Amino acid sequence: MNFLELKNISERYLDLVNPTTPEKILTAGRVAGMKKDSRVIDFGCGYGEELILWVKEFGITGIGIDIRPAACERAREKIKVQGLENHIEIVCGNASEYKFEPQSYDIATCIGATFCWKGGFQDAVREMKRAIKPGGYLIVGEAYWLHSDVPVEFAQREQSITSERELLRMAHAEGLELIYVLHSSHDDWDHYESENLHGLSDWLDENPTQPAREEVIQHLHESQEEYLQFGREHFGWALYVLKPSV
Ligand SMILES: C[S@@+](CC[C@H](N)C(=O)[O-])C[C@H]1O[C@@H](n2cnc3c(N)ncnc32)[C@H](O)[C@@H]1O
Repeated sequence: MNFLELKNISERYLDLVNPTTPEKILTAGRVAGMKKDSRVIDFGCGYGEELILWVKEFGITGIGIDIRPAACERAREKIKVQGLENHIEIVCGNASEYKFEPQSYDIATCIGATFCWKGGFQDAVREMKRAIKPGGYLIVGEAYWLHSDVPVEFAQREQSITSERELLRMAHAEGLELIYVLHSSHDDWDHYESENLHGLSDWLDENPTQPAREEVIQHLHESQEEYLQFGREHFGWALYVLKPSV
């Protein structure tokens, strides 16, 4: 099983697949000026939950792109059940290869998925900036190191993570200003990590003879260890609202 297949199993109880809350997602949308018929493009949209929240609160229309067929299917089903097909389109594919019309969206978002681009955060915000109209905004959800005292063993495993200061430097280098930040709390992290463990554990109960069991058990143990030994102490996560510098 590859990593995304394990995520299909672990994320069954999660709609937002990040250590954040619907309230924080809505605040970011409000700060980014979302209103009726705002056009939003969401890169790495997962189960479409951010777009759904923004449609219900602000009446936006949006397109979400995700590479994982199971995530696209689940997003489309949720959108259909809630009667939001006229507001949200889901495209299954690689976000970094999606051909959008430049300057055609009011807001471009990428919540916990800047790794879709080879160069991570900086490549992501550069591309997202190309997608927005003058006066538009970006919303980016990104992990960062909480401090500089990260054990080498963990830092080497997570080479794409950097400090918030470096994220800010990259945003400035791309001509973007930070106008709002929503940091995740320990409770947000506990909820996100625990629901993943919960999903894996219930799958194991329901699949006593599955050949993939050993891999799922290994992933469960690695996830437990990584969070309690390292993640809780060293990982931060935040939503950043950015806009082009004047
Ligand atoms: C951490 S999840 C975040 C999902 C969603 N933004 C949310 O907050 O609920 C990252 C998502 O990126 C998707 N993904 C990974 N690589 C991708 C790529 N190259 N293009 C598009 N989506 C990708 C995964 O399938 C996953 O759904």
